[in-house]
Amino acid sequence: RIDEDVIRALPKAEVHVHLEGGFELIDLLDLAKASGEALPGPARSLFDVSTHYSPELPEVTTGGADHGVGVGGLTGFLRFLDWECGLVRTAEQAARTAYRFAARESASGVRYADVVVNPTHWNAWRDRVPALFDAFAAGLDEAAQDGLAEIGLCASLLRQQTPGEAVEFAEWIVGARPRRVVALSIDGDERAAGRTGSRFADAFGRARDGGLHRTVHAGESSGPEGVWDAIRLLHAERIDHGVRAIEDPELVALLADSDISLGVCPRSNLSLGVYADWSEHPLERLRSAGVAVTVNTDDPAPLGTRLETEWAVCADTFDWTMSDVIGLARTSITASFAPPELRRDLL
Ligand code: ADE
Ligand code: ZN
Repeated sequence: RIDEDVIRALPKAEVHVHLEGGFELIDLLDLAKASGEALPGPARSLFDVSTHYSPELPEVTTGGADHGVGVGGLTGFLRFLDWECGLVRTAEQAARTAYRFAARESASGVRYADVVVNPTHWNAWRDRVPALFDAFAAGLDEAAQDGLAEIGLCASLLRQQTPGEAVEFAEWIVGARPRRVVALSIDGDERAAGRTGSRFADAFGRARDGGLHRTVHAGESSGPEGVWDAIRLLHAERIDHGVRAIEDPELVALLADSDISLGVCPRSNLSLGVYADWSEHPLERLRSAGVAVTVNTDDPAPLGTRLETEWAVCADTFDWTMSDVIGLARTSITASFAPPELRRDLL
């Protein structure tokens, strides 16, 4: 097995990870105390807290996962993210959240990360989203000054939003250019709203025309059609997850022939019931078909993992050599939206 210390030492990027998925138990205890709220359920572990939000019945997209792992499906998981982000009430707390996130990325040897942040989870900031992004940027600037990982933000829409809300958000980013925002993104539950690619085409078109990068959650809670829509309608440069592209050979061939990479998060897929176990996971089949894949954590704290662990488990499961892992590190950097000077430094 490739040592996690060796993986930590490799210069690398993480390209699919959510700021909302970075709160450790200690952060939640501090925030809950500050806001006078009780943690739901026992506070023995983050697992206990997050599973409190799981729906009664687990949802399984394709595999037969019985949710032994516990976070209980995407719907409950997204509700949990709403609750934890709702505890962040002040600019100081938002800045600390971003700073600690950068510190945790650095602890995994990540030098640059593209981080998804979806303001709809941060309930206390509904009418002051620009102030929320200012606070994140302040925390991330301080982190960079302290030598921690550089972070670019992928400002994210929720799948259930309306076309009008989406356009308004894209126009704000293109016009105001909030500090550290590098991309427009979309995440959330793709099933909750049906097939919605066309609904967001206008917003993503404006992002492209305004010089922003685009990354799209697809092929997790949607099938290959979600990935097709991300490419054809949303001008995606990168797909977050995208694993269900494997169900369509024509799509796999197109991806292999393109610069579009898949930000794969195998443990998230197992924990949230997209696949029942590692033997079903298509990561290696996509990689050997020539698709550019990266390995990421998605939501490391509630999923109970770190990037170096994910890479080590993948190397073990799929029999990767050290040279495969070095290749993965290079792909992580080329797939990232890091500024050109930093990319050159890291490659
Ligand atoms: N937000 C945080 N994690 C997510 C996931 N796995 N899918 C969609 N939206 C998310
Ligand atoms: Zn994600």
